[in-house]
Amino acid sequence: MQKFKYDKDSLMTYIKDFNLDLGYQDDISILKEEVDLGDGYISPNRMAIHPLEGCDGHTDGSPSEFSLRRYKRFARGGAGLVWFEAIAICEESRANPRQLYITEQNKEVFKTFVDEIRKTRSEVSSKKQILIAQLTHSGRYSKPNGAASPICAYDNVELRESSGLPEDAFTYAADEYLDSLPDMFAKTALLLKEAGFDGVDIKACHGYLLGELLSAYEREGKYGGSFENRVKLLMTSFKKVKEACGDNFILTVRLNLYDSYLKTENNPGWGGNVDKMDLTEPIKLIGMLKDMGMKVINITMGNPYHNPHINRPYNAGGYTPPEHPLVGLGRLIEGSAKVKQEYPDMIVVGTGYSWFRQCAPHVAANEIANNKTDIMGMGRVALAYPDFANDIINHNRMFSDKICLTCSLCTKIMRAGRFAGCPVRDQEVYLPILREVRKYG
Ligand SMILES: Cc1cc2nc3c(=O)[nH]c(=O)nc-3n(C[C@H](O)[C@H](O)[C@H](O)COP(=O)(O)O)c2cc1C
Ligand code: SF4
Repeated sequence: MQKFKYDKDSLMTYIKDFNLDLGYQDDISILKEEVDLGDGYISPNRMAIHPLEGCDGHTDGSPSEFSLRRYKRFARGGAGLVWFEAIAICEESRANPRQLYITEQNKEVFKTFVDEIRKTRSEVSSKKQILIAQLTHSGRYSKPNGAASPICAYDNVELRESSGLPEDAFTYAADEYLDSLPDMFAKTALLLKEAGFDGVDIKACHGYLLGELLSAYEREGKYGGSFENRVKLLMTSFKKVKEACGDNFILTVRLNLYDSYLKTENNPGWGGNVDKMDLTEPIKLIGMLKDMGMKVINITMGNPYHNPHINRPYNAGGYTPPEHPLVGLGRLIEGSAKVKQEYPDMIVVGTGYSWFRQCAPHVAANEIANNKTDIMGMGRVALAYPDFANDIINHNRMFSDKICLTCSLCTKIMRAGRFAGCPVRDQEVYLPILREVRKYG
């Protein structure tokens, strides 16, 4: 097959060859439209920055000057919605010792952080940027002191064996422990509301605790087995956060539609398994969250530690993927379309656009125009090219010399325990870090 050239002709040829339900729209002005997110919030355009952990907070959980630098770049960049990175709900659930974690002690630092970001934004635009914070319990991927301290929903043999950790390294969360978490989600959400955020997301994706519980088919007790039991912790947390934060505050979920793990005798897999996607249960769950007042959802798939080609299709990474990146992108984008088809009133933030480079706004505009998604969410692009939205608004295009190469170097430095950012396009801060990782590991 001819090498992919990141232009319309190449894209249309590949779409046809892979039989993907994607398209390309020349006119991308739809991305400049406002979107009503409900609860009194309007995003000034249809472009969002996805949550991107920077691993650059202080050990007490408060943001550092590096965290502020990242978000000031996002504020200047023009995306209408900035979906902040994972913020831990308790010490033991931090994914690294530098993950953000808000407490009564540091909440004023968070408030100043949010104020600074809003001030930066107001210097370039009079339109309010919407700021949503992501709440997380890192579960299986907890590393609060820098060493793996997994807290799992159940024994997933595939993930345990691929982790390289000994069997006795894994802790399994007892029902009593899980019972205590909804109050922690609510407490953290309220602190973030007081710090000035417009909303919170209860993270249920990427193999972290609430995401993992969705596939706890084999778990005994009230959080395992039946669909109702597996979604219970997410639903209870949602209810508690809603009660704590009230209306006029966005409450949303970043949800894995599909894990893509191996099928086992007693575990058919969340959203299906590696052989076949089946969105019956995820769609049912979204309906339940909608009935509880959720108006916005952020759609994602896969597990970045285990099958990153499903989660963020790439050109270079830790292994050669079993499929072309476009097939993975087609799946991610099709997932958003299925949700939109089922719940037309739900505002869907789509994932799967960074790889398309300068074609991304054209692919997203086509999805939005056909009511298959509402907002183009950008992950890695935001690290490489934080002002992509300004260029779309002012120049009707993204520039090829600024785009993300999907080379996975940002994740390489993050997995090495360093600050995460783009050593390719943001060299001043992150190239020295990459060099250190290459030298010392
Ligand atoms: C460095 C890095 C950090 C990330 N941190 C988070 C996070 O905190 N929460 C989350 O839900 N996803 C996180 N992601 C996943 C992204 O939000 C996004 O889903 C993924 O990169 C795919 O989108 P893209 O193809 O536009 O990059 C992270 C990704 C990267 C590369
Ligand atoms: S290192 Fe930069 S160019 Fe490479 S994937 Fe990450 S953001 Fe994109």
